[in-house]
Amino acid sequence: MINLPGKKSLKVLTKLKKLNGDYFDPYPFVHSNKGNGCYFQDLDNNTFLDFSSQIASNPLGYNNPELKKLIKKYSNIHPIKYAGQDFAIEEHLKLLEELTSITPKNLNAAFLINSGAEAVENSIKICMRKNENAKFGLCFKGSFHGRTLGALSLTQSKQLYKKNYFTVPVKVLDYSEKAVEELEKLLKNYSSGEIAFMIIEPIQGEGGYNIASKKMIQDLRKITKENNIPFISDEVQSGMGRTGKWWAIQNYNIIPDVMSAAKALQVAATISNRKMFPEPGAISSTWGGGHKLDLALGCKIIQIIKKQKLLNNINNQGKYLRKRLQELNLDKISNVRGLGLMNAFTLPNEKLRNDLVIECLKNGLVLLGCGHESIRLIPPYIIKEREIDGAVNIIEKSYNKIVKSGFKHTGQICNYMNCVKSNT
Ligand SMILES: Cc1ncc(COP(=O)(O)O)c(C=O)c1O
Repeated sequence: MINLPGKKSLKVLTKLKKLNGDYFDPYPFVHSNKGNGCYFQDLDNNTFLDFSSQIASNPLGYNNPELKKLIKKYSNIHPIKYAGQDFAIEEHLKLLEELTSITPKNLNAAFLINSGAEAVENSIKICMRKNENAKFGLCFKGSFHGRTLGALSLTQSKQLYKKNYFTVPVKVLDYSEKAVEELEKLLKNYSSGEIAFMIIEPIQGEGGYNIASKKMIQDLRKITKENNIPFISDEVQSGMGRTGKWWAIQNYNIIPDVMSAAKALQVAATISNRKMFPEPGAISSTWGGGHKLDLALGCKIIQIIKKQKLLNNINNQGKYLRKRLQELNLDKISNVRGLGLMNAFTLPNEKLRNDLVIECLKNGLVLLGCGHESIRLIPPYIIKEREIDGAVNIIEKSYNKIVKSGFKHTGQICNYMNCVKSNT
């Protein structure tokens, strides 16, 4: 059992909590540079098995030899960052070539930017620019699209994120097959030209790892196509192979008009057909397409996923993980779900959920919450069966402890109980 936070981590966390401009609830450890594969060590030499992958942004685990070699190549270069939309660097082109090799054929160009929220922001901007009569966009209950004001207007998962912030006009559809009817009804009251875009996460991330049905996505796509409403798939969390296909929307056999990507790509991208992008100057950013190392890492990550055929591993290990979790057959664990290595299960309430994440952490397994009562399991793409067995054993052991009547966490860790909520 690990006593968390350890002494060295606590020192850093205490100072960080005072200076950080957000009352944040970090996990009760501080990363060292040590680690290997799906395991990492904190400053106090505690070892953890990572089933959070830095919120899906670290797809290949720790100290990957090929990525380390690449980082070394860039270690003696200055500047490492360029104003990439105005001053070209080769890494910009190389990443775009690699990225467009894995996107559906008609999505043949991408605008690179810094964060997932900005990728979403630019996705809606390019749609709005195309249609001068548009008055509002469409998004879904439970969605998370980021926190810049445009992206936040679309985010519906938790009201905490939105209070007092001005928004872009949107109408919110149910995240279910009911949305089809709702959209049909809307189209009776508004002309399709008044709708700038529809944005959807094929699998909702922060909002609870809810998986849209095939019928829902295919029917919505049919209507948006018939009515010329651009369809945006937000792939910031679900893209780059996480679901066993390069893009989650490919599990639905449809092609969107626009995709937003980030996290595992190391930079962010608004991806669409060349013709969707507006005139020069309409979208830009100083650092967009300009961080040599990040661009090179994104490019290499795609190459490694291809070379090591990791999409197969993602599919196989995802199935194995869900099977192992279902076999546990634990009373209070329900709705084991997922695609590839984007998985979750649900507990009866938030307290039990938080208790389980913290107890697993004390036993060396890092998990993340999502929604109000669910837990995400998003290990690196290189995960092996025996590591999944290790994680499932920790979950079972921790579960048996937290469901006992009168169970309570004690000690320093109680100051870090909210970390599991992860707001991204
Ligand atoms: C689906 C989705 N869209 C957008 C974002 C925002 O990305 P970022 O935190 O990089 O701004 C996230 C972050 O978790 C996300 O999951």
